[in-house]
Amino acid sequence: MARRMRVCVALTTFMILSSVGTFIPGTDGPVSLQTALEGGNAELPCDTIPESVHDELMLLVWYKDDVPIYSFDARINIEWSSAVFNISGRLSADIEKQPSKLLISSLTGDDQALYHCRVDFLLAPTRNIGVNLTVIVLPSQPFFLDEVGNKVENKIGPYHEGDTLVLSCLVIGGRPPPRISWYSGEDLVDASDGTSDIPGVRENELYLPLTRDNAQSLSCRASNNQLTPPVITTLQIELYLPAFNVSIYWVHGTLGDALQAGKPAVAKCIAHGSHPQPDVLWWLDHKHLTQHSNQSLDKTTRTAISFLELTPSVSDNGATLACIATNSAMTPGRDSKADVVVLNVTYSPIIEITRVGDGRPGEVVELDSLKLECETKANPPVVNYTWYFNNIEIMSNSIWGSSTNSPTLYIEEATRKHAGKYSCAAINAVGETRTEFINIIVNYPPECSQSGIVLVKETLKCNINALPAPDTYFWHIQSSGEDVQHLTTGSPLLPLTQISGGLLDVLDASCEAGNGIASQDKPCRKLFSLEQLRPPQPQQCDLAYEYEEFQMRCVPVENATHYEVSVWRMSTSNSSLVLERRRSMGFGVTQALAQGGGIPWLVRGPLGTLKIGDEAGASACNRYGCSRALLLRPTENLLHAAAGPWWKFLLEKDVGISVGATVLVVAFLASTAFLVRLIRRSRSKPPVPVIQVLQLDDVARDYLDTIGEHKVRASCSLRSCSSGYSDGSTETAPTVDRRRKPRTLWGWDQPPPDVTLTLHRESAV
Ligand SMILES: *[C@@H]1O[C@H](CO)[C@@H](O)[C@H](O)[C@H]1NC(C)=O
Ligand SMILES: *[C@@H]1O[C@H](CO)[C@@H](O)[C@H](O)[C@H]1NC(C)=O
Ligand SMILES: *[C@@H]1O[C@H](CO)[C@@H](O)[C@H](O)[C@H]1NC(C)=O
Ligand SMILES: *[C@@H]1O[C@H](CO)[C@@H](O)[C@H](O)[C@H]1NC(C)=O
Ligand SMILES: *[C@@H]1O[C@H](CO)[C@@H](O)[C@H](O)[C@H]1NC(C)=O
Ligand SMILES: *[C@@H]1O[C@H](CO)[C@@H](O)[C@H](O)[C@H]1NC(C)=O
Ligand SMILES: *[C@@H]1O[C@H](CO)[C@@H](O)[C@H](O)[C@H]1NC(C)=O
Ligand SMILES: *[C@@H]1O[C@H](CO)[C@@H](O)[C@H](O)[C@H]1NC(C)=O
Repeated sequence: MARRMRVCVALTTFMILSSVGTFIPGTDGPVSLQTALEGGNAELPCDTIPESVHDELMLLVWYKDDVPIYSFDARINIEWSSAVFNISGRLSADIEKQPSKLLISSLTGDDQALYHCRVDFLLAPTRNIGVNLTVIVLPSQPFFLDEVGNKVENKIGPYHEGDTLVLSCLVIGGRPPPRISWYSGEDLVDASDGTSDIPGVRENELYLPLTRDNAQSLSCRASNNQLTPPVITTLQIELYLPAFNVSIYWVHGTLGDALQAGKPAVAKCIAHGSHPQPDVLWWLDHKHLTQHSNQSLDKTTRTAISFLELTPSVSDNGATLACIATNSAMTPGRDSKADVVVLNVTYSPIIEITRVGDGRPGEVVELDSLKLECETKANPPVVNYTWYFNNIEIMSNSIWGSSTNSPTLYIEEATRKHAGKYSCAAINAVGETRTEFINIIVNYPPECSQSGIVLVKETLKCNINALPAPDTYFWHIQSSGEDVQHLTTGSPLLPLTQISGGLLDVLDASCEAGNGIASQDKPCRKLFSLEQLRPPQPQQCDLAYEYEEFQMRCVPVENATHYEVSVWRMSTSNSSLVLERRRSMGFGVTQALAQGGGIPWLVRGPLGTLKIGDEAGASACNRYGCSRALLLRPTENLLHAAAGPWWKFLLEKDVGISVGATVLVVAFLASTAFLVRLIRRSRSKPPVPVIQVLQLDDVARDYLDTIGEHKVRASCSLRSCSSGYSDGSTETAPTVDRRRKPRTLWGWDQPPPDVTLTLHRESAV
C-alpha cells in the first residue's frame, strides 16, 4: 500500500511537471479579473466541485503564467508548492471552502500574472479556470521642484497676491502610472500631468496666479487606483496679504451708536486676513491718533485687534473715525484696508442769545418790535425752549405773546416794561443749557418830567426823562420886553449868564431835548420871576456931608454889580414917599477898589443937597434888578453942618428975600413939617417908616476914619437911622425888632460897649 502511494505521488509530480500546456483564456476556460495592492493579499478562486455525485476530485494544480506553483492530490491528500513562489510561507490554500481558494499574501509587483487552475476528476473531464491578477504598485510621495530645479520642502514664498506660482510636482513610480493633480483645498486647480524626462517619473507643472483663497492649502495628489486614497503632499505658501476686512465696533461708552461729548468711549477695530501682522492705526478726520491705541494679534485666525480710547468733543460730531490696517510688508497702494465710521457725538445744546434787528445789539426803541433769538447747536436737536426775563420764566400772555417756547421771542411793540435781562434755555435728550443774560434797554424819546424846568441859583435846569440821556437841549428864552432867544446846550443846565439882554421881570423859558430817538412831543415850559436873584438890601450905610454935598456911603453887599442912591420926598398930596431923583453910586476911593484881601471897602454916591424931611436911599443892583432901598434920614446936626454960614445961603440962593421973611418961612415950614409928622404918626398909616437904628460897628468906623484925604470932614459924618419902608410895592414893610442886634455881615464882632455910648440915637420923626 505504501509503495502504491509513493508511486502515485511520483506520478502526479511527473504529470504536473510534464504537462506544460499553454492556457488559452476563453478557449481553455473562463478568466476572471482580480486586482490587489502591492504588499496586500489576493484570493484566487477555483471551483473544484464535481458535476455529479458519483464523481470525485483527483488533482488540483495552480499555474502562474503556465508554471505550476501549487498542487493538491486529493487521492493521497498531499499538498505541494513551488519553493520559488512560496517565499516566507506566503502561500496557502483553502480546499474545503467552495469554491476553493489560493491565498497569496505579501504581493509584489511580480505577482501580476495570468493564473489558472486545472482540476482533474475521476470521471469528468479536466476543468481549467483563469484568474487575471493585477497588482497595483503605489507611486512615491509627491515632491516639488521649482523653476530652476531646486527641491522645495514644505514651504515656499513669500509671494504677493496675484503672483504666478510656477512649481512642479513629481512622483516616482507607480503602476498603473499615477495621475498627478494640484488641489487648493478640495478644489482641483491643475490636472495637467504628464511624463517626465526621467524614466519612471511623472510630473505636473503648476502655473497658478496666487489668490488669498487658492494659496491657503495647496497640495499635490498622486493617485493610480480606486482602492487607496491618493498620495498627498501639501505645500505651505507664504503669501503677503493686506487685511481682508476691517471693522470698527464700539465696546463701551456709547448709547446706541451715539457718543456723548466729554464722555470717554472705547472703540475696537478688528482687521482680518492680513499677513504678516498689520499696523492698525486710528485716524480722526486726518489726525493720527497715536497715544490711545494698543494692538494684539491672533496668529491662527490672522486677526489683529486694536482698541482706542476716545473722549469726543462737540467739534468731533460728524467727524470720521477711521481704522486703517496697513501691511508694511507690501507695496503702498495695495497694502491697506480701512473701516470708517462717522461719529455721532451728542451734547446738550450750545446756545447763544442775540437780538435780531437793526441798531445796537442791546437796545430797542419803544414801540418797535423786539426779536430775540436763541441760536442753538445741539445733537440731538433741541426739543423745547424756555425764556427768562429777569430770571423769571416767561409764560405766554398779553405782555409776552405766544411764542415763548420757540427759539425766537418776538415782542411786537416793546414797552419800557420789556427792558431787562433776558436769557433762554434749550433742552435736548442730553440735557438743558441756559445762556448768559443779555440786557435789553428800551429807548424812548425825551419827555418833560414832572418837575419840568427848575431854577437853581442862577441856572435853569431842564428835567427830561429820556433813554438814552439827551445830548442836546434847545431853549427858547424870552424875558419881558426882549426878543425870544434860541439857545442850544449840551447839558440840561443853562446858566442865566448865557442869556443876553435884560432879565428884569419875568422869564418865559421853554426847553426841548433831543436824544436821537425821536423828537420831544411837547416842550417843557415855565415862567420865572428872577426877583430872588437880586442882591440883598445894603445894611450898613451912613450919610455924610463931604465935598459940599451929601454922600451916601455903604458897605458893599454880596452879588451886587452896582449901587443906586436916591432921594425921597414926602408927597404933598398923600403921605407916601415919592422918588425925587436917583443916581448911580460911584465906587469908593481908589484903594477901596482893590477888592479882596479881606478889607471891606465902601461904595459912595453923591446925593446933592437934602432938605429936612428928605430921605436918602441906597440900593444894591445887579442884572436882575435892584434891592429895596435902605432909607436914611439926615439928622438936624448934619443938615445944620451942611447949611454953613447963613450969609452964604443968602449969597447963593434967593437974594431978594428978606432975612425976616426967610426966618418966618423957615419957622413956618418947620412947624408945618412938625405938624405933618404928628398927623402922620397919629394916623399910623401903613407906609409910616419904621425907624431902625443902624449901627456902624467898630471896624466900619475905623475904616471910615482911615480914609486919609477925607479925614478932615469925617467929623461931619453921623451914624444915622435908616427906615425900612414900602417903596410902592404891594409888599408890607418888614417889621423891625428895635432890640435886635445889627445884622453882622462878613462876621463882624459885636461892638464894644463904649462905642454904643457914642451912638447918637435920634428919631427921624
Ligand atoms: C509553504 O511553505 C510553508 C513553510 O515554508 C509550509 O508550511 C506550507 O505548507 C507551504 N504551502 C503549501 C501550500 O505547501
Ligand atoms: C489580464 O489583464 C490585463 C489588464 O486587465 C490585460 O492587459 C491582459 O491582456 C489580460 N491577460 C489576459 C491573458 O487576458
Ligand atoms: C471678515 O472676514 C472674516 C474672514 O473672512 C470673516 O470671518 C468675518 O465675518 C468678516 N467680517 C465682516 C464684518 O465682513
Ligand atoms: C445721533 O444719536 C442720537 C441719539 O441716539 C440720534 O437721535 C440721532 O438721530 C443720531 N444722529 C445721527 C446723524 O445719526
Ligand atoms: C488694549 O486696551 C483695551 C482697552 O483699554 C484693554 O482692555 C486691553 O487689555 C488692552 N490690550 C493690551 C494688549 O494692552
Ligand atoms: C416746553 O416746556 C414748557 C414748560 O417749560 C411746557 O409747557 C411745554 O409744553 C413744552 N413744550 C414741548 C413741546 O415739550
Ligand atoms: C450871591 O450869589 C451866589 C451865587 O449865585 C449865591 O450862592 C449867594 O447866595 C448869593 N449871595 C446872596 C447874599 O444872595
Ligand atoms: C401920592 O402922590 C403921588 C404924587 O405926589 C402919587 O404919584 C402917588 O401915586 C400917590 N400915592 C398914593 C398911595 O395915593
